[in-house]
Amino acid sequence: MCLATHANAQKDTADNLGVLKQELAKVFPHNRTINLVFHGHSVPSGYWSNQEVRTLDSYPYILLGLLKKAYPKAVINIITTAIGGEHAEKGAARFATDVLPHQPDVIFIDYALNDLGLGLERSEAAWAQMIEEAKLNNISVVLLTPSPDQRQDMGNTENLLSKHAQQIRKLAAKYGLPVADSYAAFEAVFKENGTIEPFMSHVNHPNRLGHELIANEIFKLFAQQKYPQFGVDPLKDVIAAMTIDEKALMVTGAKRREIYPTALPGKRQKNIVAVGGYTYPFLHLGIPPIYLSDGPAGVRIAPRRSGDGQTYYATAFPVATLVASGWDTSLSREIGEAMGHEALEYGVDILLAPAMNIHRDPLGGRSFEYYSEDPLLTGKMASAYVQGIQSKGVGASIKHFAANNQETSRRYINTIVSERALREIYLEGYRIAVKEAKPWTVMSSYNKINGVYTPQSKELLVDILRKEWGFDGFVLTDWYGGDDPVEQMKAHNDLLMPGLQVWTDTIADALRKGNLSMDVIDQNIENILNVALKTGTVKDYPYTEKPDFEKSKEIARRVARESMVLLKNERNTLPIQARSTSIGLFGNYSYKNLPGGTGSGAVNYEHAVSVAEGLKTAGFGLDPVLEGKYTTHLEKGKPLSDKADSLITAMPPRDSILSELEWDNREIERSARETDMAIITIMRIFGEGGDRHVDHFHLTAEELTLIDRISNAYHAQQKKVVVLLNVGGVVETASWKDKVDGILLTWQSGQEGGHAVADLVSGKFTPSGKLPTTFPVRYADAPSAKNFPGTPSENPTAVVYEEDIYVGYRYYDTFRVPTSFPFGFGLSYTSFTYTDFKIEKGKGGNATLMVTVENTGRYPGKEVVQVYATAPSGKLEHPEKELKAFAKTRLLQPGERETLRFEISPRMLSSFDTDASAWVAEKGIYDLKIAVSSDTIVANGKFHLAKSQITEKVSKSLVPQVPINTLRSSK
Ligand code: BGC
Repeated sequence: MCLATHANAQKDTADNLGVLKQELAKVFPHNRTINLVFHGHSVPSGYWSNQEVRTLDSYPYILLGLLKKAYPKAVINIITTAIGGEHAEKGAARFATDVLPHQPDVIFIDYALNDLGLGLERSEAAWAQMIEEAKLNNISVVLLTPSPDQRQDMGNTENLLSKHAQQIRKLAAKYGLPVADSYAAFEAVFKENGTIEPFMSHVNHPNRLGHELIANEIFKLFAQQKYPQFGVDPLKDVIAAMTIDEKALMVTGAKRREIYPTALPGKRQKNIVAVGGYTYPFLHLGIPPIYLSDGPAGVRIAPRRSGDGQTYYATAFPVATLVASGWDTSLSREIGEAMGHEALEYGVDILLAPAMNIHRDPLGGRSFEYYSEDPLLTGKMASAYVQGIQSKGVGASIKHFAANNQETSRRYINTIVSERALREIYLEGYRIAVKEAKPWTVMSSYNKINGVYTPQSKELLVDILRKEWGFDGFVLTDWYGGDDPVEQMKAHNDLLMPGLQVWTDTIADALRKGNLSMDVIDQNIENILNVALKTGTVKDYPYTEKPDFEKSKEIARRVARESMVLLKNERNTLPIQARSTSIGLFGNYSYKNLPGGTGSGAVNYEHAVSVAEGLKTAGFGLDPVLEGKYTTHLEKGKPLSDKADSLITAMPPRDSILSELEWDNREIERSARETDMAIITIMRIFGEGGDRHVDHFHLTAEELTLIDRISNAYHAQQKKVVVLLNVGGVVETASWKDKVDGILLTWQSGQEGGHAVADLVSGKFTPSGKLPTTFPVRYADAPSAKNFPGTPSENPTAVVYEEDIYVGYRYYDTFRVPTSFPFGFGLSYTSFTYTDFKIEKGKGGNATLMVTVENTGRYPGKEVVQVYATAPSGKLEHPEKELKAFAKTRLLQPGERETLRFEISPRMLSSFDTDASAWVAEKGIYDLKIAVSSDTIVANGKFHLAKSQITEKVSKSLVPQVPINTLRSSK
């Protein structure tokens, strides 16, 4: 048997093939010979990145794997020759020695992609020489011309390629040979029974086509061969049937290697572009590629595909910080369901979300993707979101596990943190999500914890995650995370993403040398494949690529309006009483909605509703002069580009933000006379790959002047001024908040944000969000400010969490540091009273708390009720108070009441005792408080624990290697 096609004769191709050949020869007795000729750039990885030519990749590899199994006793000879440009001459020179002796049945001679300085005539002469030799030897020849797809793809080489096409046709005529474009040729040669569909219209690389067609055909050729089939035969048998190389490929993703995610034969080929990554397909074992896509605020795929008129937008939902501000787990679940639905309908198997690191420092660059400074709120929000996603049959990936609280030096920062702070603050949210929601996957983070990269930490990924918390899915790295693939395998970081060949090679090598045990990798593969069994791809879900966007929009809008936080509302400035009110709408981003942050958490949405659009739709009049000028300003300037067609990398460049339009006083005074009130939007956007600078926390001089002048002018007319904070993170408010009458924190509110703002300011709905994160007076007040983002300051390599457990309100409360707006704070248009507070001993030593909330105001509204505990002083010191539970009432009409009930177990009251490596509820009197914000307690009661109890014993893990000068309130 002999198959011939063409490959680039790169040196390392030949080397790799040589190695492979030797390996094969070791394994199989020599009683049969198979000759393969790879010749030219149709070896999939051979063309785009010559440096990375690896024949282990893609179809030659698949082909080999199949052949090895079909002919277990065969010797497989692999020949590479070259064909295009200068290689044409080399190829021709080696033709007689390298190709002919193997007596291939057919040879494909490909056009050259470029002439490599050789000139077309010399290529042509070389091709002619090969054709003649082939004819002399009775070998069929097929000539290939560039396919239309490829011509389009090659762009500026169009002329060259059409010249090549002409040349090839000339040769074909001269020698009477068949000629086809590369697509058609593959089709012609392999289409024996008419089953190959021309399904690859979007594909911009003909090699993918060759890859797929050949793999399919080979698969059919050897279909009679029995391989254990994934999903049919026991998983153990499937894994046992994998070669070492296949195992190493299975645990390293396939995205960055020109590997096209080929569907199983007979299954629909997925065309999703710019998914975060996918796993390696093994067609003969029935293992398809599994698709993973970002991210927390919506499914992140490219909205356009080449050669395809349809668009593939996704809904940009409110960012996680806004969702957390709703304090409503049912809304978080709904968002998860909507995203899960969109993912499923686009053919995505696993959503790389939710992101659930802690808001440790106000300047954290990805804080919008994260929920809160509090681990309980984080854990509960994430759990509900995971449950929502997974209820649709799509996997969630909680990330970035763990203590990934900054972007500065994110790939290598060593986070030095106490065991107690880890357990109580940085791991706790994950623990809750793993236990309550059973995420299919966990994404490890980039950073080290106490000296060890998280993807290489057995203590984190095995002892804590799997043994203590019972996680049974698979762990994947963050993209390119960690520095030692073998250590990652040993720590059961099952899948390395997005997948580099060098990782595969390192792992295969370690397996061969015995430096990595087969049991370990088998376990990792089992973890991956067990999850894969649940996916849409494996279940062959008939996805439509047409999600229900109307439903998503409704959810995005509702979640946004139920979660925005009313920070200030002097003398009932809001809601605006009359629809006839005309508004002086200031601030660039009142006219353009930036719905989320940048980086992998960005979503390619179709349209985002601005505040201007929302207000106008709701019937408000806007000052036309302002509107005209801002619109022109935004058109002329270079606002942040909010739509990327293809986000191949996680981090699109950050665009410059348009500076505020300058207004002179006369214009502002005119607007103050002619309109009834002013609204000013202040915007902050940032994202993955960098933290914010303190200047970004402060309002700019322009913004402050704008607030000042507008407030003076409108107040002189007895008219009100409201500020909207469209910000991805905390900003300074203390210095200017007294100047304005109202402040509505919209965070980054997703694509329906403008409508949500209108829903609230119009009074159609009452705000009910509360802060998931403290707004400090000054940045320097933040407990982490002293050590963020680490040392040395130029290029930090380590950051010491000296503030320890005193993160956010745990610090401000305990150390009596005034804040601008405290954790848990948020106003309503209506008012609530709290009565009938009861505290009882419940089952299992629990405390049962009850309180009745009554809407005593004039508007229907919902109220968030928080339960904090103050622990008795014992062996361990404690923050002044800690959040232990929360709930949101249903919509209460004026006069309506609802009784809320909370169960607080001793485990929930426990603190982490480092000496004992255990969670301990110390004996004594706990003060349990019902609160409407961390600084406003409305009822409280005592709960007595007679005996100290160990509520959970854990492993001694992640111990700091250096002393930490931790902050203590008792010092
Ligand atoms: C980000 C992850 C993301 C991944 C894939 C990384 O750079 O940190 O959050 O899921 O890229 O896009």
